[in-house]
Amino acid sequence: MPAEVTHRGTWRVFADAVDLADAASELIAELARSCITKRGSFHIALAGGQTPRLLYQRLRHLQTDWRAWQLYFGDERCLPAGDEQRNDAMARAAWLDHIAHAHVHPIAAERGPDAAAAAYASKLARLDGLDICLLGLGEDGHTASLFPGQSLGEAPDAPLALPVRDAPKPPPERVTLSMRALNQSRQALVMVDGASKRQAVADWRAGKDLPVSRLAPREALQVFVTRAAMPAVPAG
Ligand code: 6PG
Repeated sequence: MPAEVTHRGTWRVFADAVDLADAASELIAELARSCITKRGSFHIALAGGQTPRLLYQRLRHLQTDWRAWQLYFGDERCLPAGDEQRNDAMARAAWLDHIAHAHVHPIAAERGPDAAAAAYASKLARLDGLDICLLGLGEDGHTASLFPGQSLGEAPDAPLALPVRDAPKPPPERVTLSMRALNQSRQALVMVDGASKRQAVADWRAGKDLPVSRLAPREALQVFVTRAAMPAVPAG
């Protein structure tokens, strides 16, 4: 499908989740090759939720120097370490447990939102930004664990990681990269699948002020959406 370039990023629509995962895998593989060639390392933040699972299953087969990969998380749920509902648990089962030598930086969300956010913010402060952040989109327009009506941490002096309480998507306590951290990244790739996301996609494309609408990474914002998640084209 041809790309649609808008001021809200470059959008590509895919027939289904398999095609989306294939394209996302190719994009990440190429970016990793470029970053590793230029700087000897590749810094990527992983998305939570279920949408990235197919992509992560593909990435376990990538032919690359995993020693150059630094893997972070865009957000984490405040659950005990090893809890299968954690975002890092899905990434490990689908991908990270199948590769060796990559440097994985989990969010210690089991310590609670405040301590874990402070620790992760310190870790992120040592970077010159991430190369890419992988992100999902919630039905309410949230991304990572940046929810409508809550602090997004956009200011130039905002913390790079935020504690989250009362999240409308369980569990209520989380840790998330702030919008400042997401926008300090060189690129961001938002992956969206499923008819349940149609309204959020329509609102985003219509200019509604959602957390996802504030994404403005330094070099490129790419949005990969399946046909199922695209709003129906108005007749006529
Ligand atoms: C989480 C994620 C959240 C997720 C979106 C989409 O903790 O679930 O941080 O931001 O990416 O809600 O989730 P799905 O991919 O499962 O639809």
